[in-house]
Amino acid sequence: MKLKKQLQTLLEDKLDGELLDKLPSGYSIIGDIAVFRHINQELNDYKQDIGEIVIYADPQVNVVVEQFSTNSVYRKPQIIHLAGEKRTITKHREYDTIFNIDVSELTFSPGNKGERMFLINSVQDNEVLVDMFACIGNLSLPVIVNNPTVKCYGIEINDVAFKYLVENLKENQVEDRYFPLHGDNRSKSPTDIATRVLMGYFEIDTRQFLRAVEAIKEKGWIHYHKLVERDNIKKSKKKIQELLKTANSEIKLNDTRIVKKYSPRLSHFCFDLHVKK
Ligand SMILES: C[S@@+](CC[C@H](N)C(=O)[O-])C[C@H]1O[C@@H](n2cnc3c(N)ncnc32)[C@H](O)[C@@H]1O
Repeated sequence: MKLKKQLQTLLEDKLDGELLDKLPSGYSIIGDIAVFRHINQELNDYKQDIGEIVIYADPQVNVVVEQFSTNSVYRKPQIIHLAGEKRTITKHREYDTIFNIDVSELTFSPGNKGERMFLINSVQDNEVLVDMFACIGNLSLPVIVNNPTVKCYGIEINDVAFKYLVENLKENQVEDRYFPLHGDNRSKSPTDIATRVLMGYFEIDTRQFLRAVEAIKEKGWIHYHKLVERDNIKKSKKKIQELLKTANSEIKLNDTRIVKKYSPRLSHFCFDLHVKK
């Protein structure tokens, strides 16, 4: 049964019709933690009930939390506990990759799963990646786990994320091919080395973009992520074309992909830029 229907059936004695209609229709799962986003405030008194129903109904789930906005460049989430064990650390498994993560400290978007698959399928043997916003290896680690000929340099500024990144490299036994770099990618990104640069962050500045171009050796791809108004994709493409002119290399916007719907108005897009030096 769909979650909303299930909640409506089990809470029909407690809630009136209007509130039943406002019950959430889904959550994402990170490891064994169910993460709700923005449950309607009018349901504040019933959030624990909602959490307990999820624990009862979903055998995968041992903890239920609600996540509010994410703060600062580190994207630290605001979390409250709703039901189940009182912990926020878990092990998430996807595409044969193990991610250790603390969901109260770091973001991991299950909605980016399709993009992780795109990268696993697109990266060729012997490529070298630079992941400029590595976090715990969110986008790059599955590629390295799934192709033993590929190497990666992952840069991460946040101490907590970096600690988990290092732990995850060990857990997945890729320490000999994934080189973590701690600090600001504006100074830490390696140069003239990559066939592919991942820019999985929505507020990229020109300096960071130019570092991505510098990271490419001869030719390669930059995967540039951006939140875009779905009705105004033309405007974003124009802005990207302007950004491309700031570099001293031949760069073409080759492809545009929707990674996921982000809000009623915005979608998470990835722009594939081909660089030739
Ligand atoms: C939103 S997370 C995205 C993780 C992953 N790339 C993805 O798309 O799922 C962005 C990460 O970039 C890191 N970050 C932000 N600015 C940075 C910088 N200037 N240098 C290195 N890392 C940075 C943050 O700490 C955070 O862990």
